[in-house]
Amino acid sequence: MSLKPHDRICLADLIGRDAVNTVVDEFYNKIQTHPTLAAPFSSVHDWPAHKEKIGDFWWVVLGGKPQTSYKYNPVGKHFAVGFNAKLLEDWKQLFKEVLDSHLDQELTNKWFSRVQMIGENLLTQNERLNNEN
Ligand code: HEM
Repeated sequence: MSLKPHDRICLADLIGRDAVNTVVDEFYNKIQTHPTLAAPFSSVHDWPAHKEKIGDFWWVVLGGKPQTSYKYNPVGKHFAVGFNAKLLEDWKQLFKEVLDSHLDQELTNKWFSRVQMIGENLLTQNERLNNEN
């Protein structure tokens, strides 16, 4: 079975790096005054560096080529800032709102399904760490 040309275009290319950066920028601007998420995110001191790192993270998750070589330790870092199911729900709701305001429904749904997968995974790993302590 051969791929149609359109199947080879990855989500990163369909969305574009500028839109990824815009979503990330707006999401973390909103986080800083969010009723429940601002507190855990007070551990972030260099917002431009955080946004750049997360912009690259999403770019790669969406299928783009990495532009830097960040080392990530998401499970440990989230555990350290008190990640839990409720905060994850709030995070996802805000992320969805920002996606909706910048992308069409199809691209929003595709990006958001990756959010759901990573969120589930973080939660499972986080619960594992909780049970060890
Ligand atoms: C699907 C949901 C989420 C994704 C995809 C995600 C993704 C990430 C990634 C990739 C990093 C960088 C980790 C590293 O530098 O190794 C990060 C950092 C961070 N995340 Fe999340 N996150 C999610 C949900 C949350 C939630 C619910 C919270 C609230 C507690 C949170 C709080 C943080 C904080 C405070 C940092 C900065 C940690 C530091 O640099 O010390 N995240 N996140």
